[in-house]
Amino acid sequence: MAVTSSSERGSWNSKLGFILAAAGSAVGLGNIWGFPTKVATEGGAAYLIIYLLCTFLIGFPVMVAELSIGRKSGKNPVGAFKALSSNKFFPLVGLWGVICGVVILSFYTVIAGWAFGYAFEEIFYFLGWDSAAAWLTDTGNGPKNALIASVFMFGTIKIITGGVSDGIEKATKTMMPLLIGIIVIMIGYVLTQPGASEGVKEYLLPDFSRINAGLIFSAMGQAFFSLSLGMGALITYGSYLSKKENIPQAAALVTLADVGIAFLAGLMIIPAMYVAQAAGIEIFVGDQLASSTDLVFQILPALFHTIGGVLGLVLGVVFFLLLSIAALTSTISLLEVPVAYVIDEHNVPRKKAAWGVGLGILVISIIVSFYPSLIGTFDNIFNNLGLPIGGLLMCIFVAFVWKTDSALSEMELGFEGVKQTLFAKVWPVFIWIICPAAIAYNIISNFL
Ligand code: PHE
Repeated sequence: MAVTSSSERGSWNSKLGFILAAAGSAVGLGNIWGFPTKVATEGGAAYLIIYLLCTFLIGFPVMVAELSIGRKSGKNPVGAFKALSSNKFFPLVGLWGVICGVVILSFYTVIAGWAFGYAFEEIFYFLGWDSAAAWLTDTGNGPKNALIASVFMFGTIKIITGGVSDGIEKATKTMMPLLIGIIVIMIGYVLTQPGASEGVKEYLLPDFSRINAGLIFSAMGQAFFSLSLGMGALITYGSYLSKKENIPQAAALVTLADVGIAFLAGLMIIPAMYVAQAAGIEIFVGDQLASSTDLVFQILPALFHTIGGVLGLVLGVVFFLLLSIAALTSTISLLEVPVAYVIDEHNVPRKKAAWGVGLGILVISIIVSFYPSLIGTFDNIFNNLGLPIGGLLMCIFVAFVWKTDSALSEMELGFEGVKQTLFAKVWPVFIWIICPAAIAYNIISNFL
């Protein structure tokens, strides 16, 4: 096996740095673009409740498992499974994770590029440069999509070449507080506008009759995607974590940050839809609320244009920058997974690995840029299905191959006495039975 110097691998400088980087990975388009629109179209508050259950009961235990695998092995997802057992199958699970990361990143940069482009669209609209603004709103324009996706990918590669503490940690430490500040300001504005209260009701009053297998499958896929689980992003981030850190506590903080920001994003976007409606903008297609792409890339810009003037400009630019920042802290972690794999397993220096892998993925991004309909297909295979399958196999690995007791011994290093706590009695039951059964049942029932 390749030997990698620790300076190529790197480590987090501080606990806060790790939490912000992992929360940055978790908080992304999934929270601000995906979650609110799924809530809006798939069942309002009923969806919110199922999502919260999936996050805390399935996502959190799997996150603890991933971080433990990562920290114990100090390796990328493929190397981690090789290091912790001689079983030949599980490194393939790591490889599947790396592949999911590569494909998700390839379409994620295209959507992130749309968001980034819209920040400029708002400026061009304000200046009256209508054709330039219209060019940026065309999500089907291949060359334009490819151009902005490339800018986004270059930014991501640049940060990754800086390494773990000087690149990833530094970047996310600045971006995360900014992101939270922007969301809070936007909520303050939206909730004081006419029409907002109807959106708040739609968001927070559940209609349980809307819960069905499809909704649960979607909420679970969303929980895995939003928490960055099932593809080894947290194995990789965990591999840079100091032995002093308390893994269950870190996982709890990251989960809470992710859920908290998704919740706030919903509180900003769903009422904003109804504010748009009160301003005369159509938000329903038939009797259904407009879905993801239309909502964020048509209704919200229409709202910003209706507000008009400097206020419309500022709100529009700030909102799309928020989306871009959230996306960037996630693309960093998506790229770090295959890069860490190449560094560890093929002994390639970080800079070379980052550029090589990043440019390779950019080629797929460019294809997606020209055929954006691929996004739905990729999303279904590699995200909705791929991540839960990855999570299921990781549970099986920790439960029956590496053993939950070994994982608890790893946790013990930064959490003295963990084995005597209630956590040590409950968490293994989730990893042995509850998480795998819930994930498997969910996947199967959705197919049937
Ligand atoms: N969690 C990110 C989001 O919500 C996406 C992501 C998935 C990032 C998997 C890394 C790994 O947008």
